[in-house]
Amino acid sequence: MKGTRKLFVKSFGCQMNVYDSQRMTDTLAPEGYVETATAEDADLIILNTCHIREKAAEKVYSELGRMRRLKEEAAANDRRVLIAVAGCVAQAEGEEIVRRAPTVDVVVGSQNYHHLPGLIARAERDGHAVDTEFPVDDKFDHLAAPSRAMTRGRGVTAFVTVQEGCDKFCTFCVVPFTRGAETSRAVDKISAEVERLADAGVREVTLIGQNVNAYHGAGPDGRPWSLGRLLERIARIRGIERLRYTTSHPLDMAHDLIAAHRDLPALMPQLHLPVQSGSDRILAAMNRRHTRADYLDVISRLLESQPDMALTSDFIVGFPGETEDDFAATLRLVGEIGFSGAFSFKYSPRPGTRGAEMTDQVDEAVKSERLHRLQRAIDRQQAAFNRRCVGRTFDVLFERPGRHPGQIVGRSPYLQPVQVEAPSSLIGAIASVTITEVSSNSLFGALARQPALAAAGA
Ligand code: 5AD
Ligand code: SF4
Repeated sequence: MKGTRKLFVKSFGCQMNVYDSQRMTDTLAPEGYVETATAEDADLIILNTCHIREKAAEKVYSELGRMRRLKEEAAANDRRVLIAVAGCVAQAEGEEIVRRAPTVDVVVGSQNYHHLPGLIARAERDGHAVDTEFPVDDKFDHLAAPSRAMTRGRGVTAFVTVQEGCDKFCTFCVVPFTRGAETSRAVDKISAEVERLADAGVREVTLIGQNVNAYHGAGPDGRPWSLGRLLERIARIRGIERLRYTTSHPLDMAHDLIAAHRDLPALMPQLHLPVQSGSDRILAAMNRRHTRADYLDVISRLLESQPDMALTSDFIVGFPGETEDDFAATLRLVGEIGFSGAFSFKYSPRPGTRGAEMTDQVDEAVKSERLHRLQRAIDRQQAAFNRRCVGRTFDVLFERPGRHPGQIVGRSPYLQPVQVEAPSSLIGAIASVTITEVSSNSLFGALARQPALAAAGA
């Protein structure tokens, strides 16, 4: 029996990393590692990193500076602390990380988490261990089955990775390099995982993947299934009341996925569909493989199928060659669609991508100014979307205690956080809520009708 050691995992970046962090924790549990909430008392620290923009990647090095000091303090007290770098920076930079930050003991790429126990043993023995190969086997076949929910709230909502990697090669994006070629997990494995989550009390599942709607995993019939079909299968699992999926590419919004928004009551009326730019010239330079009109067409088909949708997107401003006219086209697209929210970023050249080689890079000051204008436009749309919810009544899935005593917080069908004065016994339940007020990004509401439990005076 191995002695107990403490593990601290810090996740940066996207939901894929949140999911992977949990799977790493589960994989290390049989090795005697127990999760701790602070780095200070950890014996193993894992930084699960993001490489999407330069700022994200650099954050890791500043974090490593802090970790080095913790490690030195522990060493002064005769305690050995191991530091591991996982995720996309590990995948992209490999050995280079140990050269730049010698305090790092283990570097493990995003496809190799099932090798962690061996890598830790090797680092303890040899000083350090690096593994960033893209293996032929599937890490999910080897990682421990999730022992508990990968949750946003208290075990009520969970992410499940169904697809990884990307073959699209947008010219700004490192993902095809850090996460490799597109792969999909088999339908049966996903269903089994969702069934376990449902048994553990999860009510809402978000299927995740870098390009989730390109999902083409093997079905029980041995043929590739689409995401629409997978959703239909998952919706039948007892206990699962809500489904979402993210992140999608406009090209892969297939007919059956669009139809699923009409036909599956469990599929929430919300879609994150990055468009990046509203200019055809820039979309072509980004190798997005669709035009502005194609995007508008997808959205209009979706709204025909399900008129009540909250749409969100990602935008990049200042991609090489972007003129004021191109940027104006992006603002017009935003105006035409009306988003419930969006993420927008200044273009950040990433090593190894075609965009980084382009000669017509945009000035930082211009990028900042465009980002500011775009964010203002999006904030206005988000506020308008939220305001339109006031007076409406819809279902909220309660996830956790709220900011103030007596409040609990859940999510609307559109993914907005909703604060309600209600008993904490409702956490994990869906209740009908009437929206009374909005703030910048939260809604406030009151229970529309007392659920049976509360009415009985419980
Ligand atoms: N620079 C800025 N933003 C980027 N994104 C991806 N790569 C870059 C980059 N090099 C943004 C895109 C993507 C989101 C996850 O991050 O908008 O949809
Ligand atoms: Fe990156 Fe484009 Fe693939 Fe999305 S579709 S992960 S932006 S290369």
